Amino acid sequence: MAARKMWGGRFKERTSASVEDYTQSVSYDRALWEQDIAGSKAHAAMLAERGVISAAERDAIHQGLETVRREIEAGEFVWKSEFEDVHMNIESRLTELVGDPGRKLHTGRSRNDQVALDFRLFVSARIAAWREALRGLVAALAGQAEANSDTLLPGYTHMQPAQPVALAQHLLAYAWMFRRDHARLTDCDRRVRVSPLGAAALAGTTYDLDPAYTAELLGLEAVFDNSMDAVSDRDFALEALFCASLVMAHLSRLCEEIILWSNPNFGYVRLPDAFATGSSIMPQKKNPDVAELMRGKTGRVYGALMGLLTTLKGLPMTYNRDLQEDKEPFLDADRTVFASVSIMAEMVTALRFDAGRMRAALGSGFLNATELADYLAAKGMPFRDAHHATGAAVALAEERGVRLEDLPLADLRAISDLVAEDVYAVLAPEAAVARRAVAGGTGPDSVAAQLDKLRRWLAE
Ligand code: ARG
Repeated sequence: MAARKMWGGRFKERTSASVEDYTQSVSYDRALWEQDIAGSKAHAAMLAERGVISAAERDAIHQGLETVRREIEAGEFVWKSEFEDVHMNIESRLTELVGDPGRKLHTGRSRNDQVALDFRLFVSARIAAWREALRGLVAALAGQAEANSDTLLPGYTHMQPAQPVALAQHLLAYAWMFRRDHARLTDCDRRVRVSPLGAAALAGTTYDLDPAYTAELLGLEAVFDNSMDAVSDRDFALEALFCASLVMAHLSRLCEEIILWSNPNFGYVRLPDAFATGSSIMPQKKNPDVAELMRGKTGRVYGALMGLLTTLKGLPMTYNRDLQEDKEPFLDADRTVFASVSIMAEMVTALRFDAGRMRAALGSGFLNATELADYLAAKGMPFRDAHHATGAAVALAEERGVRLEDLPLADLRAISDLVAEDVYAVLAPEAAVARRAVAGGTGPDSVAAQLDKLRRWLAE
């Protein structure tokens, strides 16, 4: 009776119910059903090509697998935990449908190379989805940068007012992060898209298979070099999880900005109602819950990365059942990162910036102190001395409770007689930003060049 299991030939007793429940993966790896069908179809085509099965058997397998696809899509497929995983569920249904050809499908294949293939195809498909979502987010940030091209705000270091910057420059800083994430995923995908099929259980097969042909049918660019590595390697999933973690780190930083900027003490941005929630007790509240939750979800994606790193540590060659623990963290991270990037793109598009509040904030914190120092240095004073003299001007303004530009010329000249009437134009935030014309700086030409570069990439 234990022979009900596909591997049950040598078993006399049934698996205990608790063990069946503990070891099954079909409750979650059914997510890989499409990849499993594609992999099996390619494997059957290759077996027929090499004369291991007949063309009629291949066709029966292909038709049977298409029936399975329709059943799954229609929600009619009955997933059974007694068949452990997605692979054996599909194979057993196929055999039910087409008989003997179904039993030949697994020739020259093991679940070890099968699962590695399915998972690689799945990770690659999700990477494609993440990349598309990142593109949307870069477009959203570029759109806001363009729409707010005249808006200035305080730039911060140490979360203290530092120098005036263009809002566009600030937003594009994030666009470049997500652009790098996109490039990183493109690079990672090259290592994901390697076919392990043909490695079989661990040592390769005695059949004269053609792994390059299965790879080609699946649109994969490369084939494994070593069968033992092929069935035990999960570097591709780790790399994808690292890329996902870094995407979340970048999102989390942006979330933090949105949380700060929407605080009434800043008031730089108004949270759209669709992306905020109220309080059940405090009627005045409009909370940035979406941004907070996204910041919080960053932890679970890091957790997925750390979890899988830990699972893989110390595994001897080759396949070990520990490897089944690769899927849940990836599936969870995938849901999180894809939804987060997509929702961030929508939220960025819906943000309404308060240029007036940002402009007002430029009036405190002596953000133009560097301008005065540079002004003096341009007139010949060594920069270190200019820095010191400006510090004295700041101290004086602070003592009087005024801005640097409110100090009368006589007071500024008392600090250095290099100061003239033209100093006031230099102290304006617009001038400070405009003068940072250096490539990559916050000046308007640099910002326009960045936008242009991003727009050209988005149009590719
Ligand atoms: N469900 C398994 C996994 O995800 C498939 C491979 C099982 N292989 C085996 N030799 N038990 O890893």
